Amino acid sequence: PQCFSVGGWPVIVLTFVLCTGLLLRFRRRRLNLPPGPFRWPVFGNWFQVGDNLNHKRLALLARKYGDIFMLQMGERRIVVVSSSELAKEVLHTQGVEFASRKGNIVYDIFTGNGQDMVFTGYGDCWRRMRRIITLPFCTNKVVQESHAVWEEEVNMAVEDLSSTRESFTSGIFIRSRLQLMIYNIYYRMMFNRRFIDEGDPLYVELEAYNAERSRLAQSFEYNYADFLPFLRPFLKDYLKRCEELQKKCISLFRDIFLAERRRLLSMAKVDDGDKCAADRILRDEMNHEISEDNVLYMIESLNVQAIETTMCSLEWVLAEIINHQQIQDKVRDEIDTVLGEVMLTEPDIHKLPYLMAVIKETLRLHMPIPLLMPHMNMKEAKLGHYDIPPGTKVLVNAWWIANNPDIWESPDKFNPERFVQDDIEVKGSDFRFLPFGSGRRCRPGSTLALPLLALVVGRLVQTYELLPGPDLDGLDMSELGGQSSLHLLHCSLVRVRIRA
Ligand code: HEM
Repeated sequence: PQCFSVGGWPVIVLTFVLCTGLLLRFRRRRLNLPPGPFRWPVFGNWFQVGDNLNHKRLALLARKYGDIFMLQMGERRIVVVSSSELAKEVLHTQGVEFASRKGNIVYDIFTGNGQDMVFTGYGDCWRRMRRIITLPFCTNKVVQESHAVWEEEVNMAVEDLSSTRESFTSGIFIRSRLQLMIYNIYYRMMFNRRFIDEGDPLYVELEAYNAERSRLAQSFEYNYADFLPFLRPFLKDYLKRCEELQKKCISLFRDIFLAERRRLLSMAKVDDGDKCAADRILRDEMNHEISEDNVLYMIESLNVQAIETTMCSLEWVLAEIINHQQIQDKVRDEIDTVLGEVMLTEPDIHKLPYLMAVIKETLRLHMPIPLLMPHMNMKEAKLGHYDIPPGTKVLVNAWWIANNPDIWESPDKFNPERFVQDDIEVKGSDFRFLPFGSGRRCRPGSTLALPLLALVVGRLVQTYELLPGPDLDGLDMSELGGQSSLHLLHCSLVRVRIRA
C-alpha cells in the first residue's frame, strides 16, 4: 500500500501526459496535412532545410513536393503555395481567413509586436490604419498633387550624375545619388522635408539606421532561434542589437520628424490645409483614431517599406537596361517618338507602354518581395485538399509563380515584349504575376512606386546613354535574397554618355 501511495501522483501525471499525447497524435492523424519532408521530433525539418528559406530554395522544394507543401521548422509551421490557383485561394477567395500576419522574433521587435500595419493582425485596427495611410499617401490624387515634387528631385539627381569627370570615364556608383533622391521624394511627401546632400548629418544617421535595420531583419542567420526557442540564449546579443536599434529609430522619428510636424500643426490656423502625409496622420491621432505608438511604428516601418522596395526595384531596372543596350535604345526611341524634345513628366507615362513593360518585366524577374509578406490563418482552414491548422505561416512564392517555365515561356530571359504582346495586369488581378500581392493585404504602394519608377528610368534614358563601367561587359546581377526582400548583391560602376 505504501508503494501504491508513493507512486500515485507520478502514475497519474504520466497517464495524463500519455493520454494527451495519444489524443494529439490521434487528432494530428485525422488532419490531412500538406506533404513535405519527413519531420523529426523537436527539430522538424530543420536538419534537411536549414535556415535559408529563400524563394529559390522553396521553389526547388515545390518541384519535389508540389504546389502546396508544409515545413515544420522546430515549433514554426510553414505552408508554401506555389501556383496561381492556390495563390488566388490564399489572397482572394479565402482572403479573410488568411489575412493575418505571422512575424518572427526579429520582426516582432522592429514592429513593436505588429503595431505598424504591415504586421498588424487583420481586424478593425488594421482597417483604420490602412485607411489612415492610404488617403494621404497612396492614391492617384496624391500622385497628381506630388508629381511636380518628384520631377524636381529627379531633375536634380539626373543633373548630378554627370557633375564629375568620372561619370564619363572610370564610372561612378549611381546608387548613392539615386537613393538620396528616393529619400527626398518620400520625405517631402511624408514630412515636407528634404535632405541637402548625401553628407546631411540627419540623412547619414537615418540611412545608417535603415540599412542596419534591413540587414538585421532580412538576414536568415537568426532563423534557428526563431524555430527552436530553446536556442534563443545563443541569439541574445543579436536581439539586443535589434532592440537598441529600434529604440534609436523610434526616437529619431518621435523627437525630430514628428516633433517638427506637431510643432507646426500647433501653430497652424484651423483652415490651414495639411502640408504632408504626417499632418493628416497626426490629426487622426488627435481624433483618437490611432494611438501614438501606432503612428510611430507605422511611419517608421513605412519609411523602410517604401524606400527599400522602390530603391531595390530601381537598381534592378537600371542593371537590366544597362546589360541590354538594345532594350534601353527601344525605351529611348519610344519616348522620343511620343514626346520629342519635351522632358518626361508623370502624366505622360500612360503613353509609354514599352517603358512600363520594362518595369513590369524587371518586377517579374527580380520581384522585390518574392514571397510576399507572410500570411496567417487564425482558425483551422482548408487549402487544396489539405487541412491548415490555425496559426500557420503561409508563404506565397510569387517569384516562382512568375518564373515557372510551365507558365512562362523562357522565364529566365529578360524580355519586356511579353508584357507588350499580352497586357498582363500588375496590381493583383492576374494571379500569375503578383509583385504587389493581391486582395486585402496587397500593395498600397503600387500607386506611387510604378509611376515613380517609370519617371526616373524614363528621364535617365532621355538624358543619357547608361553604360557599364570601363572594361566590363555588363553589371554583376548576383542577387541577395532575404526574409522578405530580393536585392542586387553588388553595387557596380556605371558610366553615362550624354546623348548626341
Ligand atoms: C505590402 C510590394 C512599394 C507600403 C506589400 C506586399 C508586397 C509589396 C508584395 C505584401 C502583399 C501581401 O502580403 O499580400 C511592394 C513593391 C513595391 C512596394 C514591389 C515597390 C516596387 C511600397 C510603397 C509603400 C508600400 C512605396 C508605401 C507608400 C506597403 C504597406 C504594405 C505593403 C503598408 C502592407 C499592407 C498590409 O499589410 O495591409 N508591398 N511594395 N509599398 N506595402 Fe508595398
